[in-house]
Amino acid sequence: MKLLYADASPFARKVRAVAYELGLQDRIALDFIKAVPGAEPNRELGAANPLRKIPTLLLDDGRSIYDSTVICEYLDGLVPEIALIPSDGAQRAEVMTEHALANGLMDAAVGLRYETAVRPEDARWPSWIADHWDRIDTGLDWFEANSGRLAEPINLAQIALGCLMGYLDFRFAEKGWRSNRPKIAAWGETMLSRPSFTETVPAG
Ligand code: BEZ
Repeated sequence: MKLLYADASPFARKVRAVAYELGLQDRIALDFIKAVPGAEPNRELGAANPLRKIPTLLLDDGRSIYDSTVICEYLDGLVPEIALIPSDGAQRAEVMTEHALANGLMDAAVGLRYETAVRPEDARWPSWIADHWDRIDTGLDWFEANSGRLAEPINLAQIALGCLMGYLDFRFAEKGWRSNRPKIAAWGETMLSRPSFTETVPAG
């Protein structure tokens, strides 16, 4: 298998962290892809995924799998001894809803990165930026208020939350997401020191 990825992408990091947690990291070759929305289209990526989004997983038989959540589900299914996504209906819905929240917050954070670092300054939209920071604050507050959920055995939602924290540290350290959130700050310390995270630290 080959993963089309970028170090800086929290979605690619989520897939890589899942691969580590499942012990699959050595079965996945990494192919760094430069794909910036609004820049020259990356046709190599487009051939594998018309959305031209990373991460995209190329299987050995030539098929492609995307998006990051589908890739994680696929990888989780390869290792029957471990379940990062519960199979039971109610538990699964709970974990996947928490994953949708953490993943949506990553989406907001990446959108903010493009809005503030890539979009021309005179085309930026201050109320959009404020609204997306508000979503991130509200979402992190939800995890703080429901931190008991983070005591569950490691799952896909927790990995996505760790990737969000890592991305906020990487791109928006000055925002200080930890202040007033001691419970998830302490949890994040442990999560980000797992090999699945120390081996996938963003760069670039
Ligand atoms: C970033 O540079 O922050 C970034 C790069 C690729 C995907 C998402 C974010």
